[in-house]
Amino acid sequence: MENKLNLQETLAFAVHCAQEIGKIHLSYFRCDNQEATTKSYVSDVVTRADKESEAYFLAEIAKRYPDHAVLGEESGMHSATGDYCWVVDPLDGTNSYSQGLPVFSVSIALQYRGETLLGVVYAPYLSELYTAIKGEGAFLNGDKIHVSKKTELDVSVLGTGFPYDKAVNPANNIDNFAAIEPYLRGIRRMGSAAYDLCCVAAGWLDGYWELNLNLWDMCAGALMVEEAGGVVRSFREDRNISIVTGNKVIVEKILSFVS
Ligand code: IPD
Ligand code: CA
Ligand code: CA
Repeated sequence: MENKLNLQETLAFAVHCAQEIGKIHLSYFRCDNQEATTKSYVSDVVTRADKESEAYFLAEIAKRYPDHAVLGEESGMHSATGDYCWVVDPLDGTNSYSQGLPVFSVSIALQYRGETLLGVVYAPYLSELYTAIKGEGAFLNGDKIHVSKKTELDVSVLGTGFPYDKAVNPANNIDNFAAIEPYLRGIRRMGSAAYDLCCVAAGWLDGYWELNLNLWDMCAGALMVEEAGGVVRSFREDRNISIVTGNKVIVEKILSFVS
């Protein structure tokens, strides 16, 4: 059986949800009523905006697609019998968000039997809406985007991040960072993996790598990169989802430094 959904209509629904969730983010941003607490580690922050955003999304799916599953960062898997699964990070970049730093986003993807059909990443403070449907390109606020064409590391600016268990697990990306940084124009640690991937899709970053991501961090963003002409390569099996992204040439060069 093939996907039967109208993907343009489904994307419009996902965009509407992302924009409503963006309003939730902004309603608490730089306010003292965020109710920030920590989860797995002291650097793993959650706020009422994360929880309210996910609750909103779950309620919208229950109304519009009651037979679809949802995998959400804050509440896990809501299983259903069908083949469709929404993957949502209700607030990606909570550490920055809780500090009052402006790079944070909501990430929504729809998978059909494990294949990503569409993705939306919305950074509300920046008013940047990234969208993609498989096979139809990637867009920023309606304009088509493409990955960077740079093929040399010394003129490239890359993004990366560090896992929450960095203090207790030596596979924490510090070695990769130290190895590659001298050979680059620069590195940025934006604090939102979904947004990092969109920056690669738009060519604002020439590449990005990170280890120990979860599906909700990268599902929509990975489609964005692929639909913008880039590649997403896995580079280790033992740290959850670990990826290098960019154009084909730069990804190979990054892979010669990171492991
Ligand atoms: C985190 C951000 C960060 C990345 C972490 C993620 P969260 O997600 O995407 O950039 O380095 O690995 O867990 O916790 O803000 O949703
Ligand atoms: Ca995340
Ligand atoms: Ca999150």
